Amino acid sequence: MKHRHVIDLEDLTFMQLQHTIELAGKIKNDPEKYAHVCDGKIMATLFYEPSTRTQMSFQTAMMRLGGKVIGFDNPQNSSVAKGESLKDTITVMSGYADIIAMRNPVEGSAKAASLYSSVPVINAGDGGHLHPTQTLTDVVTLYNEKGRLNHLKIGLCGDLKNGRTVHSLVKTMSHFEGNSFVLISTKELKIPDYIKDIMDRSGCKYTEVFDLKENISDLDVLYMTRIQRERFNSEEEYQAQKGTYILDLEKLKYAKDNMIILHPLPRVDEIAVEVDDDPRACYFKQAVYGMYGRMALILLLLEDKDYFFHTKSGKLTTHSVCSNDRCVVNQEHYLPRYYYKKNGKKICEYCDHEIRNS
Ligand code: CP
Repeated sequence: MKHRHVIDLEDLTFMQLQHTIELAGKIKNDPEKYAHVCDGKIMATLFYEPSTRTQMSFQTAMMRLGGKVIGFDNPQNSSVAKGESLKDTITVMSGYADIIAMRNPVEGSAKAASLYSSVPVINAGDGGHLHPTQTLTDVVTLYNEKGRLNHLKIGLCGDLKNGRTVHSLVKTMSHFEGNSFVLISTKELKIPDYIKDIMDRSGCKYTEVFDLKENISDLDVLYMTRIQRERFNSEEEYQAQKGTYILDLEKLKYAKDNMIILHPLPRVDEIAVEVDDDPRACYFKQAVYGMYGRMALILLLLEDKDYFFHTKSGKLTTHSVCSNDRCVVNQEHYLPRYYYKKNGKKICEYCDHEIRNS
């Protein structure tokens, strides 16, 4: 089965990803040429969860291409507050807009939305699951700032358990030859096993360590992340992790001169403000690269009729439940139960957790 939705950056072939990154660069270098390519088109930005960069960069991306934007940034101001289902909201919105960008705290909700949309849906973050356009932002930044996407030693530091940007980035960068990862976290916030499986399968080397200062010296890239307070089960658990990692100028003394520092933002306290003026700090530039990446993606989805992706499998199951309480199928009960198989197990196609018999 084929579709034109971007749920996971993995949906893009290697060639499509390369093409998108290159187009982002062309748009950045000659914005006038692309200023009217989406004249008459409308994007709906449906944000069920707070956002600054993703929402505003999608909106400015569409406007810089000549298009217009509708949507909400607080579902309580829409009929969601009256109990409208995701299916009904998306069915209606896809009759109004030519393309939809949606952020929703429920895992797998982007895949669910895509089932009911007659126009392309872009996943702007689905809970702790995936955030593909942040990964696009990250790879556009890496390509422009490091000049390559291979043979990079990438340190990832902070909340590696809940950070969907980390999961998506590791998945994507595992496809490029010679990349290796240094995973810097507490034992409570380690990267999930399914991401380690991906690194193992692709043959990427990785180490799991605790100390940032001791492991910074040979990194090409340091990707800092926020401890994601909103994903913790209790305030006590969050307080126990808060402030564990703070990148400051003292620690940066041990890093290479050409290392770059990335962060998906927002930052809380994990990068000291004094670092902002260091030439290695790239996180504000990264947010701008994100707008060009999103401009390229919107343009390809609206203009290139061959820009199709394959679904994972589309097989239906009955008498089974997704083991993930946060999965959309456990909240929107009308959804068909799609799964794919991995290592002999049935995996939920919405959230990538295992399915169990009911
Ligand atoms: N990086 C990112 O997703 O930022 P926002 O939450 O502000 O969109």
